[in-house]
Amino acid sequence: MSKSRSLRLAVPILGVALAVVAAGSAQDTPTAGARRFFPAADLMRIGVYYYPEQWPEAQWERDLRRMAGLGFEFTHFGEFAWAFMEPSDGRFDFAWLDRALDLAARAGLKVILCTPTPCPPAWLGEKHPEIYLVGADGRRLEHGTRANGSLANDVFIRYTKRIVAELGRRYGQDPRVWGWQLDNEPWGPPDYSPSAKLKFQTWLERKYGAIDRLNAAWGGAFWSTRYDSFAQVLIPNEGLFGEDALSPQALLDFRRFTADTQAGYLNLQYDILRGLVRPEQWITTNYMNVTDSADPWRSDRLDFLSFTMYPVRGTRNLGELGFRLGDPHRLAMAADYFRSFRGVTGVMELQPGQVNWAAINPQPEPGAVRMWLWHAFGGGLSFACTYRYRQPRYGSELYHAGIVGPDGVTPSPGGLEFVRVIGEMKELRRLYDPAAKMPERLAARRTAILWSQDVLWDLGIHKQTALWDTRDHVNKWLAAIKAAGAPLQFVDEGADFAAYPFLVAPAYQLVDEALAAKWTRYAEAGGRLVLTCRTGQKDKTGQLPEKPWAGMIAPLIGAEVRLFDGLIEGARGLVRSGGRGYAWNRWADVLEPAPGTETLAVYADQFYAGKAAAVTRKLGRGTVTYVGVDSLDGALERDVMRLVYERAGAGPEAYPPGVYVEWRDGFYVAVNYSSRPYDVPVGAAARIVLGRNPLPPAGVLIWR
Ligand code: GAL
Repeated sequence: MSKSRSLRLAVPILGVALAVVAAGSAQDTPTAGARRFFPAADLMRIGVYYYPEQWPEAQWERDLRRMAGLGFEFTHFGEFAWAFMEPSDGRFDFAWLDRALDLAARAGLKVILCTPTPCPPAWLGEKHPEIYLVGADGRRLEHGTRANGSLANDVFIRYTKRIVAELGRRYGQDPRVWGWQLDNEPWGPPDYSPSAKLKFQTWLERKYGAIDRLNAAWGGAFWSTRYDSFAQVLIPNEGLFGEDALSPQALLDFRRFTADTQAGYLNLQYDILRGLVRPEQWITTNYMNVTDSADPWRSDRLDFLSFTMYPVRGTRNLGELGFRLGDPHRLAMAADYFRSFRGVTGVMELQPGQVNWAAINPQPEPGAVRMWLWHAFGGGLSFACTYRYRQPRYGSELYHAGIVGPDGVTPSPGGLEFVRVIGEMKELRRLYDPAAKMPERLAARRTAILWSQDVLWDLGIHKQTALWDTRDHVNKWLAAIKAAGAPLQFVDEGADFAAYPFLVAPAYQLVDEALAAKWTRYAEAGGRLVLTCRTGQKDKTGQLPEKPWAGMIAPLIGAEVRLFDGLIEGARGLVRSGGRGYAWNRWADVLEPAPGTETLAVYADQFYAGKAAAVTRKLGRGTVTYVGVDSLDGALERDVMRLVYERAGAGPEAYPPGVYVEWRDGFYVAVNYSSRPYDVPVGAAARIVLGRNPLPPAGVLIWR
């Protein structure tokens, strides 16, 4: 996976020459590239989706004018309108879209135009039923919904190319079009179709060259699962056998193939459009957050990545109001993860209110929609768009809130919150100071999380305990970093780790000698490395190396992993550290520290009571900390992370769970997903721009 490169300048931090990323990207292409699309003084632009094809044409003008009148700055057309753009094979109709674009432009709205590929028209499926995905149950999907096309099918790809090129030719030079969204929420659907099987075989042949190498990587000697040729290889189908019966190494390759197929489909659309559209028109897609199946960073041709965000989805979250305030981690992680790709991101769909698709769909807490918008701003986003302007009157999302209700004119509660933020944003733009620089106190805490979709997949394929939850584990570390008030980026293994004084690799199961050596060099040069349970157990194929357990990282962490454990549901193990007790349940690496390694936490019960659960050591000018246990509530993670910052002299904050304080463009932004008010320590010199202290649940406080 190749990523962009960012501009770096070397500055001494913690007495070591560490490089600071100048423009805020973890990656390698000049961030100026993607930043040029969004003038910094605009801060965050706010827009909303509209579906001209779903409403009587006589209402378009009223709707678009009112949208602009409410303050929205852009709209978004077309991602589901293939049947309207190409009503029959090869016959294109853009007259309606021209009229809609014209009305939008007259209303003063920029337009994000989308490729309509999630919705192949009925005529296409009728002519070529092979364009549809096949599920793990062997059943082919059919017409009647969206996201049903097989991205491995050449006929589907041929029709995709044609419609994308038509759009590019027609609107690529059109000043009314601000930018492009490819497809919709590409999520990397696993595809068991004959087309996917052939492509998988080709993918494997390219990867392994000779079948014996595949047999070795997949463990073909186990249960006679070996193959004689690539043409014999089947897609490992968990639907037929359950994951345990299949080679986990084969499953991992199928995950990689699926993600490559998804990324290839987007990259292909990108390349067609880029050849046809003006350089000022940007091209992105809207990933459904950091999903399990796609790998957003693999779609590396795109100008930048955006995401969709629905924080209230019937889950409990923090405290009694949590189910209305939303999952406190989703937006926090997405902003940092997607921004890290090219230094720029935006939220393409931000929940406007109550939705219809979760098992339970509560109303958001009054103020929550506004809080998410300001959280998005604090997270560095360049735009925030919401799905959708009008509440639909038909179709599967009937009970989904819009900015206005089913009458097309009355603003919803969430709609009014959007309008309020639009007004507040104008005020902030007046205060924008282009000379504002990130305060040194914050820069000194810059932290990166090392992220790999391969690791996420592998942990999911073989959990070892059904209670293991990778997301939850990562969230605990994310929360620990945020609680310290540290600016966060996500990086991959290709990144220059030295750009960050702190590097956290949560449950980084797949490791090779090169990565272990890179980590070692990072710490030796002054970096503060934090590794967590499960790290380094397997090599990159997903096999156990012929070494003692986690042997690849033992010299680095200054400890051996003697054994690991997981408790049964509802059971609690106890860990002690610094006079405090911490409960755990899911994962415990039992450590044997080498001489010179300091024990930070010990197990207080089970047959390994007294053994180390977390250790730290100095290495060269830096440190390596290994936390082998996944605590129940993330408290141990917070305390260890805080200690790491403190020992490095980085003066961490101590924000409570659910409170985020971000800095961007000269503004501090605090939001509160907890159910308790919090008195934000703003400092004596602070000039409050918005909100007040103490910060209530769903509250927003902005100061300079
Ligand atoms: C998103 C999707 C939108 C719409 C929305 C409803 O996941 O991209 O098209 O379905 O959910 O909340």
